[in-house]
Amino acid sequence: MPKRIRKAVLPVAGLGTRFLPATKTVPKEMLTVVDRPILQHVVDEAMAAGIEHFVFVTGRNKAVIEDHFDNAYELEDTLRRRGKTKELQALLDELPDPGACSFTRQQAPLGLGHAIWCAREIVGDEPFAVLLPDMVTMAGTAKTRCLAQCVEAYGKHGGNIIAVEEVAPEETHQYGVVSVGKDFGRDFEITSMIEKPPKGTAPSNLIISGRYVLQPEIFAILENVEKGAGGEIQLTDGMKGLAASQAFHGVRFDGRTYDCGSKIGFLTANLAFALERPELAEALRAEARKLGL
Ligand code: UTP
Repeated sequence: MPKRIRKAVLPVAGLGTRFLPATKTVPKEMLTVVDRPILQHVVDEAMAAGIEHFVFVTGRNKAVIEDHFDNAYELEDTLRRRGKTKELQALLDELPDPGACSFTRQQAPLGLGHAIWCAREIVGDEPFAVLLPDMVTMAGTAKTRCLAQCVEAYGKHGGNIIAVEEVAPEETHQYGVVSVGKDFGRDFEITSMIEKPPKGTAPSNLIISGRYVLQPEIFAILENVEKGAGGEIQLTDGMKGLAASQAFHGVRFDGRTYDCGSKIGFLTANLAFALERPELAEALRAEARKLGL
């Protein structure tokens, strides 16, 4: 029986340069998809997968993230005095349990692999989840979201799990790509992985899509990983090192991912999530028609 996944690492120390000037003072993870910060959507997904402890790897200008997961005394008091009990209750219901969030600083954005390594002392010696906060997922027909499907696959195979999705072959050079060994249908053995392969050289069109279950031995490997693609310390390079001694399985998860680190992904996520809301969908469709969509 593999050890339960209790902790999740959420790296939020990137600069979000693709969203400047919005991200000059507002962390990109706090931009909203409809009325929830991107990061709140991702924490919701982690909670639904049974995560109990959230480890945020932050950087300078990200203090607002810490405040978002705390009581907002003045606001709550004002809502209480104005009788806005529904709004107040919604805020209180969403607060993580006291002590369930930890924050550590990456100090310099040296890459995703380095950001994950910064969580080593808080995670300790147990398997953990990683959620890239700019990837927002929506459940498919299975009704469970991506991380829950990864945790389910971990229950079956143990070891390390990576969520993957299909993209057009001409897009693979922008992502981490895996190759498929023994195939079980939804999940499969990963035989190799590569970060941002040069055009035309990707081993498949299955890309690493931002949800992982990893064993704690990854930390010792990340400590010694050299800078890779883009001059950054890459998580994929660390996972390649770990794959020499441990199994990795991929999960073709049921659902959709929106890359909210890109403008198109962010705008599409707003439309998709708004269309899921009964009180917004009809009015939004009417506005879209006026725009000729
Ligand atoms: P990205 O490369 O998409 O984020 O990293 P970014 O660097 O903030 O964005 P751009 O390219 O400048 O617009 C994926 C995730 O990893 C985190 C980011 O915050 C993001 O959530 N990250 C990345 C770190 O925490 N530290 C890093 O050094 C790099």
